[in-house]
Amino acid sequence: MSDPDDQFLTPEEVLRMQDSLTGEHREEAARQIEAILRGERRAWYCKRGRKCDGKPHEGYMYSHARGDQWPPPGEDWFAWFLSGGRGSGKTRTGAEYTRRMADRVSRIALIAPTGADIRDTMIEGVSGLQYVCALAGEKIKWEPSKRRVTFPNGCIATTFSAEEPARLRGPQHGFAWLDEPAHYPDIEELWSNLLFGLRLGTRPHVTLTSTPLPTPWVRNIQEREDTRVVRVSTYANIDNLAATFRDQVVAEFEGTRKGRQELYGELLLDVEGALWQEDFLHREPVDWRELDRIVIGVDPAGAANKRSDETGIVVAGRKRDTAWVLHDSTGKYTPRQWSDEVYRLYSLYEADAIVVEKNFGGDMVKDVLLKDQGDLNPRIIVKHAQRSKAISAAPVVRLYEQGRVLHYPPMQNDLSKLEMEMLSWVPSSGAPSPNRIDAMVWAMTELMGNGGVARIATPRGGNIRPTGPLFGFRRSA
Ligand SMILES: Nc1ncnc2c1ncn2[C@@H]1O[C@H](COP(=O)(O)OP(=O)(O)OP(=O)(O)O)[C@@H](O)[C@H]1O
Ligand SMILES: [Mg+2]
Ligand SMILES: [Zn+2]
Repeated sequence: MSDPDDQFLTPEEVLRMQDSLTGEHREEAARQIEAILRGERRAWYCKRGRKCDGKPHEGYMYSHARGDQWPPPGEDWFAWFLSGGRGSGKTRTGAEYTRRMADRVSRIALIAPTGADIRDTMIEGVSGLQYVCALAGEKIKWEPSKRRVTFPNGCIATTFSAEEPARLRGPQHGFAWLDEPAHYPDIEELWSNLLFGLRLGTRPHVTLTSTPLPTPWVRNIQEREDTRVVRVSTYANIDNLAATFRDQVVAEFEGTRKGRQELYGELLLDVEGALWQEDFLHREPVDWRELDRIVIGVDPAGAANKRSDETGIVVAGRKRDTAWVLHDSTGKYTPRQWSDEVYRLYSLYEADAIVVEKNFGGDMVKDVLLKDQGDLNPRIIVKHAQRSKAISAAPVVRLYEQGRVLHYPPMQNDLSKLEMEMLSWVPSSGAPSPNRIDAMVWAMTELMGNGGVARIATPRGGNIRPTGPLFGFRRSA
């Protein structure tokens, strides 16, 4: 532990930090520096937790972490992928979490696309470690020639440029923060080297902060069971952006296809032959308590024609002629575990039926469910998969296309894996239909019929597809 006086920046040091600052976010930097000079201590995570919108409020009279800048809840994830638009606060989020992790592990890896990015963005930039630590009243020791940052408690973070992936072979870490990993030249090698050495402490894990790109690595990592993908749009952070930066990125990307990636952090997947297309998918909030009917679709592992060992579990509801997908709990479960999960959701959403696909074992699925039902006395509808999966999915695809199926997970839940499967499953490829999709199709077919539901004029005027971006923030036009 160094001399405590050494942990705080002198005004001269702060001003030197300011001198080294370049780039778009100088205004915010100036505000931060004033606070540091005033000797303010600014906590990033507030007591409201993930519910906070990050705007100033009592006890925290400055803008601070929004809920989407908190680490995902729980400890059952390995990778936290903050998939954000330009200027959405990715780097700041990574730096703040790294500061927090410095209290929990002794060795950290910091990785950025180039050596210049490490210095100018990760460490010395306006969202970088030097600032976030200074704002918290802490001083780090930054030794560029040793590629090393030392925190006041002695924790050491070593910096790595993605241009030299081999350097990661050997050293061990307990946590790693990768800024913009979707843009590294040789991510595969870097990733495998990193994982090999990521073994210190009780829970090694990584934070990935990046605008997304549909590369195989990004798709793979986002599909992993133990990855949490959080999408954040540029607009969520718009108040904290310098006017010039804001105007420039919005002018360049708003309304364009690329804007969905660059402003909304969406992964653009254009897979030829996929049943669903991106513009079929829409997100619109709904209060699930106001839905007329809610059902749970279940596609158990081990069903015929399945290679997957996951059980698809998807909750969906209907209000008049529009349906919502509310929840996806698909995962690897034992029969006991999936029936527990189905019943948990059944109670949570006050569902009125469980639609389950019959599998190899005949009535086995029903037996599994009945065995654990307790007092619920649920309505269980067993379905036989007879037709090809692509044919049973077709009416549901049409409902999506008409804007009659929307996505909105009101609880802490994530539909990104389902969405990714919908956009990438190509039936004619012979690949078995993913269990998530099947569970969703079962639920939708039960709610909406086989697409044969007569068109009812909606208050919106009938066949109007809700517009707006799929994920996150919708701008009021
Ligand atoms: N919750 C917040 N409260 C206050 N300022 C914030 C918050 N989140 C981010 N910022 C500030 O917003 C600006 C942009 O954030 P940041 O650099 O982290 O975005 P980014 O997504 O990494 O941007 P880029 O696309 O340029 O890499 C910075 O000045 C940062 O300190
Ligand atoms: Mg950044
Ligand atoms: Zn708050």
